[in-house]
Amino acid sequence: MKRVVVLGATGSIGLSTADVIRRHPDRFQAYALVGHRNVDRMVELVAMLRPEYVVMTDELAAEQLRSRLPEARRVLAGMAAAEAMAADEGVDIVVAAMVGAAGLPAALAAVRAGKRVALANKECLVTAGRVFMRHARQYGAEIMPVDSEHAAVHQALQGHDGGSVTRIILTASGGPFRDRDPETLHDVTPAEAVAHPNWEMGAKISVDSATMMNKALELIEARWLFDAAPDKLDAIIHPESIVHAMVEYADGSVLAQLAVPDMRMPIAYALQANPRIATGIARLDLVSLGRLSFQPVDHRRFPAMRLVADVLHGEDSLAISMNAANEVANAAFRAGRIPFTSIVAVVERVLARSPRHNVSTLDEVWSLDHQARAWAEEMIAHA
Ligand SMILES: NC(=O)c1ccc[n+]([C@@H]2O[C@H](COP(=O)([O-])OP(=O)(O)OC[C@H]3O[C@@H](n4cnc5c(N)ncnc54)[C@H](OP(=O)(O)O)[C@@H]3O)[C@@H](O)[C@H]2O)c1
Repeated sequence: MKRVVVLGATGSIGLSTADVIRRHPDRFQAYALVGHRNVDRMVELVAMLRPEYVVMTDELAAEQLRSRLPEARRVLAGMAAAEAMAADEGVDIVVAAMVGAAGLPAALAAVRAGKRVALANKECLVTAGRVFMRHARQYGAEIMPVDSEHAAVHQALQGHDGGSVTRIILTASGGPFRDRDPETLHDVTPAEAVAHPNWEMGAKISVDSATMMNKALELIEARWLFDAAPDKLDAIIHPESIVHAMVEYADGSVLAQLAVPDMRMPIAYALQANPRIATGIARLDLVSLGRLSFQPVDHRRFPAMRLVADVLHGEDSLAISMNAANEVANAAFRAGRIPFTSIVAVVERVLARSPRHNVSTLDEVWSLDHQARAWAEEMIAHA
């Protein structure tokens, strides 16, 4: 029986994880569930999974939850409690599914405690990839990607020597604006941007998919996860979201992983890769689908993908600035403060001001992160 901590349990990945855990009571036990503010959702999850502990990182939410659960003594509050749960010695697997760089301390606590870390929270690797992977090696943590593309790459790499990989190709759906006239993107609303055609996800990542900043962040994530040189990383548009990624080898062979778009598949693989376990996802019926299509990424429509080329080839500080500026601009768009097209414009302007150097400590990460957030806020306030 593996004891599991879910960071970001109340989110979209958290819910899919709960469903996988619920299907396998003989294999997994929810030891702790960690949410931020969504008390109603946590009450439902506690009824479903009966965890030993519950953490709300927001103190007020923890107080509200205590009044609604009979086992009040098991409700803890604050990020420090989340970190303690992630590092608890009785825990085997930590699902890191908070959103944004805010999830970094708890995910890193799991890494430093040598856990198996099912990593959905890609911002951890984008902002602190060098430190994160160094700690994983040092403390013997196993990082299992939850992002469907990276889980696909992980599967296509099994049994092969990494030196014979010539290209890693991530697919992208292109989001809700794949075919929309770029001239009209200025006017799209947050509701239109979060309405993803293939995936049901949290609001931030849905907007990131619409700008394709999500794919940009994923390329940086892949760089760290697979120790891949930037010129071996590629992304192509695949509107059906059936092929999640491909790995090309020196002999010209290309291995792809296919599944219907449902996050329970990569989550289950991250929890237990072998033997594979049932997830309840629909079977892939290629005959009904008829055809799978692929297109190049249009950098005029998706300027985030132009920016990431420089970031991938540049110093670590650029990825930190890019991520922080994007978090601020993405939230500002969702709050109706800036138009859609300003998201990437803000990121580009912050990148132009960003220092350029590699980063070996968390203090440096936070200092660059705070600076980039301040610049982005300032630009938005004066827009
Ligand atoms: N959804 C997907 O299909 C998908 C696919 C691949 C990768 N990912 C990645 O997985 C992560 C989570 O995505 P999601 O779609 O599940 O997001 P989501 O639905 O918005 O959920 C985010 C989770 O993080 C918590 N949270 C928010 N702000 C926090 C803070 N300041 N401190 C601590 N916890 C905080 C939320 O708690 P409350 O709701 O309780 O406030 C919630 O549990 C992201 O990094 C995303 O890029 C998601």
